[in-house]
Amino acid sequence: MTTIVMPEDTNKFGSIFGGRVMEWIDKAAAVSALRHCRMNVVTASVDHLDFLFPIHLGDIVHLRASVNYVHRSSMEIGVQVLSEDPKTGRLLHTCSAYLTMVGLDDRGRPGCVPQLIPKTREDSRRQKEGEMRRRSRIAFRKKRSAKRAAH
Ligand SMILES: CC(C)(COP(=O)(O)OP(=O)(O)OC[C@H]1O[C@@H](n2cnc3c(N)ncnc32)[C@H](O)[C@@H]1OP(=O)(O)O)[C@@H](O)C(=O)NCCC(=O)NCCS
Repeated sequence: MTTIVMPEDTNKFGSIFGGRVMEWIDKAAAVSALRHCRMNVVTASVDHLDFLFPIHLGDIVHLRASVNYVHRSSMEIGVQVLSEDPKTGRLLHTCSAYLTMVGLDDRGRPGCVPQLIPKTREDSRRQKEGEMRRRSRIAFRKKRSAKRAAH
């Protein structure tokens, strides 16, 4: 996805709102997930997000999304955000995020999504790392539920 930073996307200092970047990340991830499963999708979670550099008014923003890992109904989508200086063409990696999108069946319940078939070594690496991140997310959610139950 490619877009340009307009005045309504920025604060009074001319740099982009973090929330706007999050919105674009969510959209790019949704398009990737939709194209993979051709079902309705919802965002189940967004992992940690660090904004490494500001993005300025007039910059061109590129969002590169990929389906990294697929389980039964969930898909891990990785999104990389790059800003491009329109005058020099210089690209800067400004942030990355991993989102879990869930495919929904006709009743709006999580449904089976097509498996991912890696084609390149890079795809296989992403898949392996995505699987490890899924395990950590599940462990984190379990820990959090146990903590909540104890209170
Ligand atoms: C995400 C959602 C569909 C999960 O529904 P659920 O009834 O808990 O379903 P399940 O427990 O069967 O989980 C379904 C899948 O989602 C995954 N999942 C559920 N909660 C998750 C979370 N917080 N983070 C990552 N994955 C999650 C499960 O691991 C499971 O994956 P799998 O089928 O590939 O093994 C449901 O919580 C929901 O609709 N949430 C609101 C989503 C939304 O509105 N998002 C927009 C922003 S508000």
